[in-house]
Amino acid sequence: MLPTVKDPYQYNGEPLAVASEALQTGRRRYYIESYGCQMNFSDSEIVASILEESGYGGTRDASLADLVFINTCSIREKAEQTVRNRLTEFRRLKKERPSLMVGVLGCMAERLKAKWLEEEQLVDLVVGPDAYRSLPTLLAAAEDGRKAVNVLLSREETYADIAPVRLGGNGITAFVSIMRGCNNMCSFCVVPFTRGRERSRPAASIVEECRTLARQGYREVTLLGQNVDSYYWQDAQGGLTVDFAALLEQCAQVDPLLRIRFSTSHPKDITEEVLQTMARHPNICRYIHLPLQSGSTRILQGMNRSYTREWYMAKVRRIREVMPDCGISSDIIAGFCMETEEDHADTLDVMTQSHFDFSYMFMYSERPGTLAAKRYADDVVPEVKQRRLEEIVALQNRMSLASNQADVGRRFTVLIEGDSKRSQAHWMGRNSQNKVLVFPKAGKTEAAPGDYVEVWVTGCTQATLLGEWAG
Ligand code: SAH
Ligand code: SF4
Ligand code: F3S
Repeated sequence: MLPTVKDPYQYNGEPLAVASEALQTGRRRYYIESYGCQMNFSDSEIVASILEESGYGGTRDASLADLVFINTCSIREKAEQTVRNRLTEFRRLKKERPSLMVGVLGCMAERLKAKWLEEEQLVDLVVGPDAYRSLPTLLAAAEDGRKAVNVLLSREETYADIAPVRLGGNGITAFVSIMRGCNNMCSFCVVPFTRGRERSRPAASIVEECRTLARQGYREVTLLGQNVDSYYWQDAQGGLTVDFAALLEQCAQVDPLLRIRFSTSHPKDITEEVLQTMARHPNICRYIHLPLQSGSTRILQGMNRSYTREWYMAKVRRIREVMPDCGISSDIIAGFCMETEEDHADTLDVMTQSHFDFSYMFMYSERPGTLAAKRYADDVVPEVKQRRLEEIVALQNRMSLASNQADVGRRFTVLIEGDSKRSQAHWMGRNSQNKVLVFPKAGKTEAAPGDYVEVWVTGCTQATLLGEWAG
């Protein structure tokens, strides 16, 4: 079984286990790899569902597939390079078996559109994130030898009625997509161009999906969107409205044993009501991913993030006032346009004051077509970007270790997700704060994945808490 990945940006194209993997004779088989964020992973589950409906079966072995899909990410130059390298390998497969069809899905499909077909002779299908419903039609066209492209973005599509096929899952934790697109226009970011305008999925269909998952024995859902806090749904008559706080409330009430997480939140939109709703419900996890990006107000302005360093720090303080035990993680970009040593020092300072439990840290990568690419020069030289990133990473590593050390001696309720990656004699689970705990199975033979158990923390590394059964 694949490890469950709950961190937002670490999909690296592991082949996804597929529900219908048992080889059905007569079924054509698809293989799908996902890169980029959780949203892309969740979309791959939608794609799998659409393919299975049209009679395809899945495989985890590309060499057995009739159809190979790569769900792509454009967030940084490096992400696109990874995909291009992978396509080189598919080219080899296609040489051996010319009938193999190759489809490019997701954000790179959207960004480069039909250019793919000019650049990459091996690509047969190019399908953007809002066009997956047209896959069966596009496949039929591609099978007739026509190149098939659909990269239309939609203002409405949320795939609300499509029950995703759970890929590579552990049967315990699942993603539920609640909104798509982004209206924020952070100047560095390609997502508004690849994912289109923001739209929210009907609340009733989200709550129903949570109910179904709970009935199937799932114990945790992560509500997904580029900016979940701006979730807003209104019924056709304009009467009933549901904002993110109300949606959280409804999801929390589905089942006290179903934990609710969400990802990700733009700091400007995380409201007092959201915090109060979290505080009221013990099954809404005490964890907020709150991307800072930069600690310098001047750079934040250039990034179009619409908050200042003081405003961000006040938000962090408020979160901790309302929920003293809340885990907070962040995203940081090193070396954005115009960033001086002073700006960089401001970033280190906000990080220190916010003492994040964890961060995803990146070097700024200019993306064609974004506001920053049009307005500003990418003027921090690579060596300086690299050095600043290293300083940011070193600081975060120290803070992550300190945050874990502070948990030694504490007791947590942990949801067991499965075997530890390193040892079958150990369980791996997470506490409400999203920290990974690893602890020996011995002593409690009846414990199983999906159980909530009590664990003492007896030690730690920078990334993991080590524990023992508590009672
Ligand atoms: N919607 C999410 C972010 C999605 S992108 C949010 O706003 O929270 C994930 C992260 O990638 C961003 O938070 C940012 O830190 C990073 N990122 C986005 N564009 C980037 C770029 N051009 N260069 C470097 N990092 C970038
Ligand atoms: Fe990109 Fe900003 Fe939207 Fe996040 S909120 S997806 S960083 S534009
Ligand atoms: Fe996600 Fe990458 Fe697209 S981070 S939204 S897959 S550009």
